[in-house]
Amino acid sequence: MDVLHKAIGTPEMDPIDTLRLFFLLSAATVCEFAIVPQLPNDFPSSKLTERCANLFQAFSISIPSSLRTRFLVYGPRTTSTPAATAERPEINRSTFLDYLATWQVPHRYFTHFYIASVLSSVFWFFQLACRGTAFQLVAARMSEEHLQQSMSLTQVLICWILLAIQGGRRLWESYKFAKPSSSQMSVAHWFLGITFYMAAGMAIWVEGCGAIRSYNLTLDDIKMTNAPTARTFFCVPLFLMMSGLQHDCHHFLFSLKKYTVPDHPIFRTVVCPHYGAECLIYLSLALLAAPPGHLVNKTMLTCLGFVAVNLALTARTTKDWYKEKFGLASVQDRWLMIPWVY
Ligand SMILES: NC(=O)c1ccc[n+]([C@@H]2O[C@H](COP(=O)([O-])OP(=O)(O)OC[C@H]3O[C@@H](n4cnc5c(N)ncnc54)[C@H](OP(=O)(O)O)[C@@H]3O)[C@@H](O)[C@H]2O)c1
Repeated sequence: MDVLHKAIGTPEMDPIDTLRLFFLLSAATVCEFAIVPQLPNDFPSSKLTERCANLFQAFSISIPSSLRTRFLVYGPRTTSTPAATAERPEINRSTFLDYLATWQVPHRYFTHFYIASVLSSVFWFFQLACRGTAFQLVAARMSEEHLQQSMSLTQVLICWILLAIQGGRRLWESYKFAKPSSSQMSVAHWFLGITFYMAAGMAIWVEGCGAIRSYNLTLDDIKMTNAPTARTFFCVPLFLMMSGLQHDCHHFLFSLKKYTVPDHPIFRTVVCPHYGAECLIYLSLALLAAPPGHLVNKTMLTCLGFVAVNLALTARTTKDWYKEKFGLASVQDRWLMIPWVY
């Protein structure tokens, strides 16, 4: 056990803080990738200062971004339009980033994300139920403050079930709604996705560590005899409705024989309603998992932050792609993810 303790770092690093830091840094990295401008391959370093000064001005307009095009754009948006082709940086294999950008995997490898998600849920279920070695390692490194402000066991159970449902549904959909496609994503994106879903499987229960550690779990604990709280009454239906809406979106996108502007009623006012639904699913989990006396579970809130940043940028790219491929009028009046919000 001591060897394992040493292997994963100093005792001061609280697992909750580590997870929050991971989600925030991932969101910041995605943001940075989205805004760093494209520099030509032969760009002389003496002009760097001048270009940096122009960067701030450039934030207000559409920025051609080499990092974004290399690593963040995936799926249908990678298919060519004249503007996208012009923006795409010429791959110069001499730099590491350019070399990394040549590593692509099929978009359908999204399935791996949901395999990771389900495996993470199953792994932690057994760890929490038996208070296994991995759980004990986490609990031993938890700060006293975090152990005191713990979610209840019922909250842990409900939230774990909902996240497992989400991972399981997405896994099932990615098999059921798979269609032939040559669209791709970067290996960096794939790797970040796998890491995210494994981290989310832990984030969902980690603020309940105090209750899990100090309880003698029996079958009676799993019985839910209390009436649901107002929070549960609001958030569980929100989770279920958004899951249903997202499922309908995926089913409709699957039914399209070629790339078109979706004309299903759900898509008529929103470009990416499935992304909006995803954000509300994570919002409902962040609210449901709030420790007593807290409005929200901060670990799940940072998780939501990453999801929202990631999807907001992809939704914007999707709208740009529709405009370029099908004309400005095709999506001009549509919201990106959630009507009247974004
Ligand atoms: N939690 C997170 O951080 C996170 C991150 C990303 C995605 N997600 C979730 O994962 C789900 C899938 O996301 P995604 O980004 O892969 O969605 P997507 O890019 O919209 O693609 C979903 C499927 O629909 C197809 N498609 C998309 N637009 C189409 C169009 N205009 N015409 C015909 N077919 C179209 C795609 O085809 P191709 O196979 O040809 O590309 C793909 O099979 C979403 O619900 C999203 O919320 C979550």
